Amino acid sequence: MQLKRLPVNERAVAMNRRVERVVNRVVRARDRWAERLGVGGRAAAYDDTHYEFIGGAKDELRKKHYDKSLRLLWKAEAVAPWSSFRDCTDEERLLLAEAERSLSPEERAERKRITSEEYRAFLDEHYTPRQKRAIVSFLAAIGHGEAYAWLVSASLLSEVKSTGARAALTMQVLEEAKHFVVMRELVQAFGVEVPRQSVWEYLLLEGTLKAKGLDKFFGMNVLVETIALSIFGSLSEMPGLEILRLFHLDEARHTALPANYFKEFPLDDKAKASLRSRVRRLWMTLPALPLVMLLEEELAEIGIDAFEFAGSVMRKVSALSERAGLLPAEVALRQAMLFNRIFNLYCRATRPGHEDRDFMAADTTSGEEERAVEREIFAAATVH
Ligand SMILES: [Fe+2]
Ligand SMILES: [Fe+2]
Repeated sequence: MQLKRLPVNERAVAMNRRVERVVNRVVRARDRWAERLGVGGRAAAYDDTHYEFIGGAKDELRKKHYDKSLRLLWKAEAVAPWSSFRDCTDEERLLLAEAERSLSPEERAERKRITSEEYRAFLDEHYTPRQKRAIVSFLAAIGHGEAYAWLVSASLLSEVKSTGARAALTMQVLEEAKHFVVMRELVQAFGVEVPRQSVWEYLLLEGTLKAKGLDKFFGMNVLVETIALSIFGSLSEMPGLEILRLFHLDEARHTALPANYFKEFPLDDKAKASLRSRVRRLWMTLPALPLVMLLEEELAEIGIDAFEFAGSVMRKVSALSERAGLLPAEVALRQAMLFNRIFNLYCRATRPGHEDRDFMAADTTSGEEERAVEREIFAAATVH
């Protein structure tokens, strides 16, 4: 390629370079000292000499979370054609139409792209008003959680090290945004009043958002996302709620992030197992207890035992905490046993003829695919 070189003043060029070098040394030294003295410094945890964020590339994290998220990225228009979302590209729309043409008439009738009115009519046909209210209060609980997941994952972006971890979290921010807006339409489609957050959800989620540093990882990715994953896993086989299977898959990936991150950047012993940090995490978990008791009536309405649900959540939380190095195995086991004892005491007081049982062994996730996904995540570490 022929490019016409323009004349420049060589002395001015050299002078500008020299000035930049000197000012660069001064500015960088000033920020290094400010950082050492704890009075400011560079705001971005970014290493421009290596073209990486502080912490390095960590491509494993990128591949396991960012690449996988993009590979499994789903569009609301394709899976919830009754919604207001128009997020498919022209090519994707064309593919959907072609896929529909190749179906048999029966299959086509089954997969018909229904409108919003048809979807509402479908829900009315399959659920009584009482059941709809129960499903909505269960789903809304996690719908409010999605708003916090969006905020917490965005705030964690400035807490994690490495390019790979940031890429992973950026995908989580995107997915939580999608979960929040799609879940809102799904919940609204039921046409019943959407309850506000209960105070127990409020405390649980505010506690997570206000948690310092990587404790947010515990509150959100381990605790709240396990609750979300378990809710999606227990509802995804119900008519009209198949879309929750995709939420389940995303949340499964999010729950695996702390363990993958701490593999690259292990927590120091103080942050990991000091009594203070353990008490802090237990404190964050406590609002989940009265929340389960509050949801018992609604869950019973759709055939889910609240304590079986809570037991399966606590088992998964213990397994994840142990794997991420947030709890030593014996403490995780003791904590699970403590929760089980509280559940049984409550049931003895409120359920006539209750016989003590191991709620931690229960599993309310019903779909085969969802069970397989959970086996993959929770198999390596288990408290039983
Ligand atoms: Fe989510
Ligand atoms: Fe999530």
